[in-house]
Amino acid sequence: MKTLTKTIETLMIVFLLAAVANAAGDAKAGKAIFTQHCANCHMADGTGNPKLAAMMHVTIPHLGSPTVQKQSDAQLEQVVKNGKAKMPPIHGLTDTQVDDVIAYVRTFKK
Ligand code: HEC
Repeated sequence: MKTLTKTIETLMIVFLLAAVANAAGDAKAGKAIFTQHCANCHMADGTGNPKLAAMMHVTIPHLGSPTVQKQSDAQLEQVVKNGKAKMPPIHGLTDTQVDDVIAYVRTFKK
C-alpha cells in the first residue's frame, strides 16, 4: 500500500512538472507561427496593418500596448482561439502553438 501511494505521488509530481513546462510557450517557435498566421493583420512588429484597419473600420491595437499586455495568457489564448470583436478566430493551431505564439506576443511588450 505504501509503495502504491509513493508511486501515485511520483506520478502526480511528474504531471505537475509537465503542466508547468507546458504553460510557458516557446517564443522562438512562436515567431514563425506569428509570421504565418498573424503578421498579415498585425504586421511583423505587432503595430497593426493600417490599410487593413481602415478597410475593416477597426483600430488594431499595438500588440505591445498595455491594452494587450495587461491581459493574462489565458485571455490572449481566448482571443486567438475564439477571435474577439472584429478579429476572426485563428484555426489550425495546436494548444502548444497557441502558447508559443502568445509567448512571442509577450516579446512586443514595450
Ligand atoms: C484577419 C486579420 C487578423 C489576423 C489573421 C489576426 N488578427 Fe489579431 N486582431 C485583428 C483585429 C482586426 C483586431 C482588433 C479587434 C477589434 O478590436 O475589433 C485584433 C486584435 C488582436 C488582439 C487584441 C485583442 C484585445 O483584447 O483588444 C490580440 C492580442 C491579437 N489580435 C492577437 C493575434 C494573434 C496572436 C494572431 C495570430 C495567431 C492574430 N491576432 C491574427 C485582426 C487579425
